[in-house]
Amino acid sequence: MTAADDPVIVDPAAVAPTLQTWDRLAAAMPDCYACPLSVSRTRVVPGVFPSGARLLLVGEAPGRSEDEGGLPFIGRSGQLLDQLLAEAGLQRAEVAVLNTVKCRPPGNRTPRRREAATCRSWLDAQVEVIDPPVIVTLGGAALTWALGPKARITTARGTVHEVRGRALVPTYHPAAAMRFGPQGAPLQALRADLATAAALVQ
Ligand code: URA
Repeated sequence: MTAADDPVIVDPAAVAPTLQTWDRLAAAMPDCYACPLSVSRTRVVPGVFPSGARLLLVGEAPGRSEDEGGLPFIGRSGQLLDQLLAEAGLQRAEVAVLNTVKCRPPGNRTPRRREAATCRSWLDAQVEVIDPPVIVTLGGAALTWALGPKARITTARGTVHEVRGRALVPTYHPAAAMRFGPQGAPLQALRADLATAAALVQ
């Protein structure tokens, strides 16, 4: 390998705000080695942005299926998400989907604070590009990104918040809905909150 073949290692905090298009952001992410998740990942999962999407879903982190497939929410959580979106009258193909971190944490553990803080530059820059009027946060990691570390889903959900001019609908992660089962509160809440978000984007 020559010096010319060496990977260009990007610092997300310095680079992400300058890239300003979806394609340039997604193309730069595989050169990111700014946190330990870059070592364990198979693939970076930048997310999806169907052009014209008015609703953005923010999840936690890629799982095994996403790490292999390179797309967000294509495993079991994604199947439930698709079903609930359809019930709310939304198709996945019209919704932008991102995660708080772009690389799978080992064993699907929760992203560490440092990892989320490092990856936040990518997420913030993506949100600027997508410019969605409505954001749904799925789970605690995404809620922390949106409202800070003191926010809790149990108290934040049920209210449409406003964050920098965008409507924010906090709700549970589909994995929590699966964990608590069909009669559990998280599934009922997720269903209701996606319906709220769908009404806001109409
Ligand atoms: N869980 C998430 O939070 N994001 C994904 O992309 C998949 C599972």
